[in-house]
Amino acid sequence: MSDQQLFPVPAGFLRPQTVDAAGLKAQHDLVATDENAHWRTLGEALDWIEPFTKIKDVSFNRDDFRIRWYYDGKLNVSQNCIDRHLKDRGDQVAFIFEGDDPSTSYSVTYNRLAAEVNKRANLMKQYGVKKGDRVTIYMPMVPEAAYFMLACTRIGAVHSVVFGGFSPDSLAGRILDCKSEFVVTTHEGVRGGKKIPLKANTDLALLQCPDVKHVFVVADICDVMLKHGDRDINIACVLDEMSAECPAEPMGAEDPLFILYTSGSTGKPKGVLHTTGGYLVWAAYTFKTVFDYQAGDVFWCTADVGWVTGHSYVVYGPLANGATSLIFEGVPNYPTVSRFWEVIDKHQVNIFYTAPTAIRALMREGDEPVKKTSRASLRVLGSVGEPINPEAWLWYYNVVGDGRCPIVDTWWQTETGGHLITPVAGATPLKPGSASYALPGVKPVIVDAEGKLLSGATEGNLCIADSWPGQMRSIYGDHARFIETYFSTYPGKYFTGDGVKRDEDGYYWITGRVDDVLNVSGHRIGTAEVESALVAHETVAEAAVVGFPHDIKGQGIWCFVTLVKGVEPTEELKVTLRNWVRREIGPIASPDVIQWAPGLPKTRSGKIMRRILRKIAEGQPEALGDISTLADPSVVADLIKGANLKI
Ligand code: WTA
Repeated sequence: MSDQQLFPVPAGFLRPQTVDAAGLKAQHDLVATDENAHWRTLGEALDWIEPFTKIKDVSFNRDDFRIRWYYDGKLNVSQNCIDRHLKDRGDQVAFIFEGDDPSTSYSVTYNRLAAEVNKRANLMKQYGVKKGDRVTIYMPMVPEAAYFMLACTRIGAVHSVVFGGFSPDSLAGRILDCKSEFVVTTHEGVRGGKKIPLKANTDLALLQCPDVKHVFVVADICDVMLKHGDRDINIACVLDEMSAECPAEPMGAEDPLFILYTSGSTGKPKGVLHTTGGYLVWAAYTFKTVFDYQAGDVFWCTADVGWVTGHSYVVYGPLANGATSLIFEGVPNYPTVSRFWEVIDKHQVNIFYTAPTAIRALMREGDEPVKKTSRASLRVLGSVGEPINPEAWLWYYNVVGDGRCPIVDTWWQTETGGHLITPVAGATPLKPGSASYALPGVKPVIVDAEGKLLSGATEGNLCIADSWPGQMRSIYGDHARFIETYFSTYPGKYFTGDGVKRDEDGYYWITGRVDDVLNVSGHRIGTAEVESALVAHETVAEAAVVGFPHDIKGQGIWCFVTLVKGVEPTEELKVTLRNWVRREIGPIASPDVIQWAPGLPKTRSGKIMRRILRKIAEGQPEALGDISTLADPSVVADLIKGANLKI
């Protein structure tokens, strides 16, 4: 709450707005008097094959738990994202592709998108994909990934996109968990000039997945060398035979749309399940409202489609609104640190949405790489994934946006489907570092550790008291875990796992995760996942993983490792273990610090006290608090010494 400076809507922000301050207030007022009328308006923004008459049926109580939205309606997502735009906007660009190599870019119109998606839908049907089947998509950031996502929705298949940076083991785990019999991949991806062997990774993963029937291999040429027996279908060999027409499957609003795996505080990643109607309503509404989307705008979200941000704001939100969405294959600093700003000029991007970690990394390079570009097309800036520190916010606002563009700092989660607490561009006065207020109809509450509601300016745990259409409906295959994870810590409320402060003006300031989930460069990583990867190595007896503040990544990964008796603790072994974790999970989980721990601080009942380890990793050993409940308090002094700190 350090920086309380209020930024009104920038004077240069003149365009007619989707929702201005008065419009936003009207929505809040409507929610207060007739909530269903607000939800109905949102629902009616989509095309329904059978219109809904029922709007909301929700109980967060364990005994009669249910979440249903628009539940007697029928619709199809691809029809809403493609077909309904063809009459007026068939020749408008749906996707702009900007390759890793700056000399590669092309556009895909809505007409072409319709044909590409329908062909792939027919292809999948021909090879046995049916409504309700799970299709795993393991692809780089190229339009083909979106084609296959949309093709799944066309025929009612449920996609599970797995980030291309994940290891073969992580891919296999996700394929097995949702019993997916179909995989979409490509020979290799390229990011920052480096190749990623996606097909080879898939082949390795599939050694563990005997039930996979077909792998659809995206390729430009019909090269049989890419094939792995009858299992692999090189799409370039068969796509031409496919019809460019495919009927859109009418889906119930509550039919599953996609699964997306995300890390929790315990166990393996969970398959967050979203359903058709509510999710699309929320993605469409938030995209249009929060970013002040206007017809003709070029929108660029830099997130990978392997994350929820890519689902909602590269694909579904923009396309449901008939927007032009830019798909970027590369990274912010390749070939130079001006890349983002050059792409903005090249494609005349109006709305730009990225993560604080990228902003901080680019801020470090100084103003010049930004200033040498024009960026005059920019109108709105967005931030997502982690708290944005006021310093980075101000640089983004003043240097990137030249003080002309509001920043929407959007707080949300894989579980929420779309934004929940966020400014609305051009309608909400901004405070650097605050996600401001909840959107109309979203009911955040702050509770203390015992679940007591806290009012006014306060700090505590962030819960949401009631449902919104984009809420996840279940953990795939484990509904009991869903209720247990999110609705039992504070019964009757959805618990976000985040800490939050609310200031005197009612602005929310997200302080970060309060559970054992790390947020590294905007990526969620469960400490338990890294720990189980480490102990899977033959030299490791025990491991405890915590986060620590990191200038660029937001949080870094600090691993306390106890070696098996007799194993020599060498620098070389640290490198081995770091590579091991990268191989087990993926490079995003690469440990920043490995510290040898002859012993770990444990309670007498054997529980590791992470609170103590966190303080050591944060460099605050003086704030350890009470350590008298430890079975052996002397291990703490050793660890502090090991962390090169003084008591
Ligand atoms: C964090 C990404 C502060 C938060 C959309 C949340 C944020 C987790 C913000 C979800 C923000 C996301 N300010 N923190 N604007 N946006 N977070 O599921 O801790 O990958 O719980 O979804 O990211 O991460 P996820």
